[in-house]
Amino acid sequence: MNVRSRVPLAVTTSGKPEETLVTRAREAARQWNLPFIPRRKKEPIGPMLESVADAFIVFEREGVSLWDQEGTFSFNPGMAHLRRLRIQSGQRDDAFIRVAELRTGDHVLDCTLGLGQDALVASLVVGSEGRVVALEKSLALYAVVSEGLKAYEYGPDSRHVEALHADAHEYLRSLPSGAFDIVFFDPMFEKPKKSQPGFEMLRRFAEHAPLTAETLEEARRVAKRWVVVKGAKYSEDLKKLGLEAEPGSRYTSMVWGRVPATSSG
Ligand SMILES: C[S@@+](CC[C@H](N)C(=O)[O-])C[C@H]1O[C@@H](n2cnc3c(N)ncnc32)[C@H](O)[C@@H]1O
Repeated sequence: MNVRSRVPLAVTTSGKPEETLVTRAREAARQWNLPFIPRRKKEPIGPMLESVADAFIVFEREGVSLWDQEGTFSFNPGMAHLRRLRIQSGQRDDAFIRVAELRTGDHVLDCTLGLGQDALVASLVVGSEGRVVALEKSLALYAVVSEGLKAYEYGPDSRHVEALHADAHEYLRSLPSGAFDIVFFDPMFEKPKKSQPGFEMLRRFAEHAPLTAETLEEARRVAKRWVVVKGAKYSEDLKKLGLEAEPGSRYTSMVWGRVPATSSG
């Protein structure tokens, strides 16, 4: 593709790619409707970020990463992996599982995929009989995290997360009532707080519009049991939506709220 002016986002490969990687990157760029920029052998990404695109999704042998002039971000299942190990060892104290009352066979709609951590936890709890669909509005984040989830080794007891590039409100509106047991939101927090690595980059590329009462109502229609919302402690995130924080751990900076479904299923 001939790019005359700088574009917001494009796809490329590492500087010494194999032909199969180039084919994968080209195909992904076509699917995501983004320009594919071939990279010459050993060509550094810095000048490409100055002249061609504000950010690049880079296909490398080890995985897919997002680059801009300030940093880089790749999918890292670390925290989710730890939570999954705790669950596998029989511990059921994960706040998401408790507040959502998640169980085997559940169909879960995660409206805010982000780094994919909560979706990965849900995918283990619902197991191979269940389903986890996770939505991400930011194309850059969707691209990196959905590719990371494809390569993740789930193990036989876990369902794979189905990631979709979609806006939560629009997607919810397209669904029939009672389509999922649980609908979950973890929107961007109002007040940025100290965060784990990877989160700064997420913040730059994420959708920041707050969850509205309309979207919450739509989610209650789509849910069969609960709509669950995560917010930041000491913020108005939940209160603004009329939600009470569920009793939780003193040691985390998150609070969890829930409202019952309006659909009878
Ligand atoms: C705080 S992060 C979610 C973190 C996630 N729970 C995890 O475990 O990694 C919020 C994410 O939701 C996305 N998002 C915000 N509003 C959205 C919407 N209306 N539709 C889809 N995704 C949205 C943001 O782009 C961001 O990636």
